[in-house]
This record gives sequence, structure tokens and C-alpha cells, in this order.
Amino acid sequence: MSGTSGSETLWWQSGTVYQVYPRSFQDTDGDGVGDLRGITERLDYLAWLGVDAVWISPFYRSPMADFGYDVADYCAVDPLFGTLEDFDTLIAEAHRRKLRVILDFVPNHSSIAHPWFAESRASRENPKRDWYLWRDPAPDGGPPNNWLSNFGGPAWTQDPATGQYYYHAFLPEQPDLNWRNPEVRAAMHDALRFWLERGVDGFRVDVIWHLVKDEALRDNPENPDFLPHQPGINRFQQIYSCDRPEVLDVIAGMRAVLRAYGERVLIGEIYLPIERLVTYYGPDLTGADLPFNFQLIQTPWRAEAVAALVEEYEAALPEGGWPNWVLGNHDQPRIAARVGEAQARVAAMLLLTLRGTPTLYYGDEIGLGHVPVPPEWAQDPWERNEPGHGRDPARTPMQWDAGPHAGFTAGIPWLPQSADADRRNVDEMRDDSRSILTLYRRLLSLRRDWRALSVGGYRGLPLPPSLAEAVFAYERFGEGETLRILLNFGNTEHRVPLEKQETWTVLLSTRSGRSGERVQSEITLDPDEGVILAPALR
Ligand code: GLC
Repeated sequence: MSGTSGSETLWWQSGTVYQVYPRSFQDTDGDGVGDLRGITERLDYLAWLGVDAVWISPFYRSPMADFGYDVADYCAVDPLFGTLEDFDTLIAEAHRRKLRVILDFVPNHSSIAHPWFAESRASRENPKRDWYLWRDPAPDGGPPNNWLSNFGGPAWTQDPATGQYYYHAFLPEQPDLNWRNPEVRAAMHDALRFWLERGVDGFRVDVIWHLVKDEALRDNPENPDFLPHQPGINRFQQIYSCDRPEVLDVIAGMRAVLRAYGERVLIGEIYLPIERLVTYYGPDLTGADLPFNFQLIQTPWRAEAVAALVEEYEAALPEGGWPNWVLGNHDQPRIAARVGEAQARVAAMLLLTLRGTPTLYYGDEIGLGHVPVPPEWAQDPWERNEPGHGRDPARTPMQWDAGPHAGFTAGIPWLPQSADADRRNVDEMRDDSRSILTLYRRLLSLRRDWRALSVGGYRGLPLPPSLAEAVFAYERFGEGETLRILLNFGNTEHRVPLEKQETWTVLLSTRSGRSGERVQSEITLDPDEGVILAPALR
């Protein structure tokens, strides 16, 4: 059982976050790529849906080698997405609707086209040489160590100007900055302040666990569990190239910059097992407010496995550390593609009833699954380097209506849309009581109505072993309210016992038409059904 919180909760604790991948949300100028004005146009939708904050993936000036995760100017909007004025309008309009705005900050690496890198590579003596990671070749002329790029191949590229190698954890077009250098920290803090002054409510910090590397650049050890179908990066355990203890000091520095502006949130992107992940709350909670918890993406979709995961995570959280949960993002196969359409509804109920801040990924609320992308249409550079690992199928444009290109663009969309876009779109689904969109909206509204759901405690409920294989049961409680959540992860019916003396009302089911039903002693869950129960008023 863990944590009820007092009435003093912060917006990013009680609220929900919605991720927009700006290339794919709404295009307003007909170039087939979404833009900032498009996001502004759709703010009414987000307010209607009932989320509290929108996190926007990068829109900074960039050559787009990694679709904006290669930044050439941290304080400018790329013309593809609009202008700084468009951004100012977006944030003003969002705030007018009580929606918070979270930016994606990409401090681990810049673009190769950033003026800092142009200076740094010019000569060994350049004052910015040490802003990036330059090393002499190994004695055999090869790279300085065995570190690999996350997108395939070596993580070191030799630069003809000086003969030295520079390090890039991702593409050669994304050289890593040297966060041990105080000038780099100061420049990055200034970039944070630039956006904070414009009113942003927080940052999601890209690969925050990568920022500091082993000082001696030791070789990473081999990974004994590596399997050939995995991406090449998995050949080694990344223990020296990332997750170094000094990174916590860097994060505390960023956090201090944010604190000067009041309640702004710092979210960190971290792919690590739970015991390492929770260290990113930092000593005395001086680290990330929300170290992104991707465990639901990485755990097999079975009731027992997910129940055990929730227990493990709840037990591992430091005192005062606020939990969070994620089902998908622009780097991962979509939830409906992973677990199927029926279970995607159960997943929605899980995400929005667990304790902690949920992050929704655009398009999941209309049940978008795997959208096939023909090889000749591939965009993601990772797909070109390591076919089969690319992220395009999870980044396809949002589907708004049954018109051309589902209302996303008047031009040709940069990625294809789903074959059923004439039915799978917001317009068709918003008034359909059986749609997954309606389910998401009801869940979001319940989260606002019941403090037990948004900020209450969590308690797992034991079930007989035969039932626990398929059903995950828990309670959320606080301020005199208790709600019970029962999720059937299986595709057969299950009868779940309830206390005899208590009558419960179905607040919401993933199956429509059940709300308001009263149950006593037991409840029968349909295949793939999840329910939220509240004690019935006598
Ligand atoms: C993060 C981003 C991903 C990007 C990578 C390099 O993992 O989410 O999209 O490619 O960092 O910046």
C-alpha cells in the first residue's frame, strides 16, 4: 500500500500530460508536416478531451536529421514549424484554456550544424573545442573506445580538420556536448531561461541519463544476454557511456534554474530498470520531478507481470517521489499495436487509474495501431541504418475527420495514415459512446472528479492464484473515497469475488452500457473488460 498525498498537490502531480509530435498533429500550410499553428488550432480538442498539459516534441531550428532531435539553435523555431510569434500565440492560447505547455529540451547533443560545433571542430585550440567530446584515435587509428551509436554503427566519427574523433550517442549529425564543461552548463541554462521567460511550464529532457559520460571513457562490457535480432547498441552494457553518478549534479543544476520560476516541472527521459530509475529523483529529491517510467512498455502484457511491476515500482519510490506512467511515445510501437485493440482499452483504464502522473501519446486515444510504412516511404534514419527498428509506424499523422488525409493536411502527409482513417478519426468517434475516444474522455473526467484517482493512495488487492493470472485488482483511496479497479487482461470471462456486505456501482467499464450497474458478492468481467467500482450509496 502506498502514499496518499495531502491536499497540497501540484498541477503536474494531479494532472495528465498529452504528448504532441508536432510533425504529425495538424498541418496548416499544406506542406504535409504539422506546425505550431496547427497545435494552436487543436487546443480546443485537448481541452475537450480533458488533459492538463501538452508536451510538444522539438520544434527548434534543425536540419531534421533526427526530426528535430538535432538542434541547431536552442532559442529559435524552425521555419518548418512556424515562428516565435506562433509559439507565443500557442502558449497564450493554451494558458487561456488552462492547459500547461511542456517543451522538449535536447541538451545531450546539438546538431552538427550548430555554430558551437562549427567552432569546436575548427581547431584543437578553439575555445569551444572542449564543448564537445574530442579524442585522439586509438593506437590502431580506430575509434577511441568501443562505444556504439544508438542508431547503429560506431559512436565515434573522425573529423578530417584535426584528425580527432568526436563522440555521438546517436547519429554523426548529433555530436554530444560535454556537460563536464561549466560553459556548456551555463549556455544550456540560458536556453532554459529563454523559454521559461516565455511562459513554458516545464521541460521533458531528452536522454537525461546520457548527459555525463565516464571521465576515462572506459570500454563498455559485453552484454551476455544480447540476441542477434536486437539493435546493435544492445551488444554492450552501457554502463560507462551513460547513467554516471555525476549526472545527478547536472540535473540538480537544471532543476534549480526551473525553481526560480515557480512550479515548473522537470521530466527526464530515462530507460533504466526500476532500481536505477528511481535514483533520478536525486538526493533529497533534487533531481527530476518525474523520471519517466517506461516500465509498462517493457513489461509483458500479463496481469501478474503488471501487478508485480506496480508493486515493485511503488516500493522503490523514494519518500516524497511522485510516480508516473507511460504507455507509448514517438520512439515505441503504439500500445494498440502491442496489445491489440481490445486490450488497448484495458491499457487506457490502467494508465488513467494508477497512482502517478499519466502521459498520453497523441493518437492512442483513437486507438491508432501499427500503421504500415512502405520501405520507399521510410523517414526515420534509424530505419535506414537498422531496418526493422525504425519508429515511423508510431509517428503517423493524427486523424481528425473523414475528409482527405483525415483532416491533417491539404497537401501530401509526410507519413501515411491508417487504412481505416475514414472511420478511425476524432469526428467519427467523439459522439460514439462505444469508441475508445469516449472511453479516454470519460476516464480523464473521472480522474478530475475523484481525488482518490488523481492523488489518492494505491493498494494492490490479492486474488486467488487462478484469477490473478488474468485479472489485476487494486484500490485507489483517500479523503474518505475508495474506488476499486478490476482489469481483465485475458480474452475469457472471469468472476471476481467482492465482499458480501458491500454493494458496488460500476462507475465505468471499458465495455459501454454498464455504468450504473450495481453489484454485490461478485462481478463477472467480460473478456478484455476493465471496470472501476465505487461503493454504492445506500
Ligand atoms: C530520445 C528521443 C528520440 C531521439 C533520441 C536522440 O530518445 O526521444 O526520438 O531520436 O533521443 O535525441
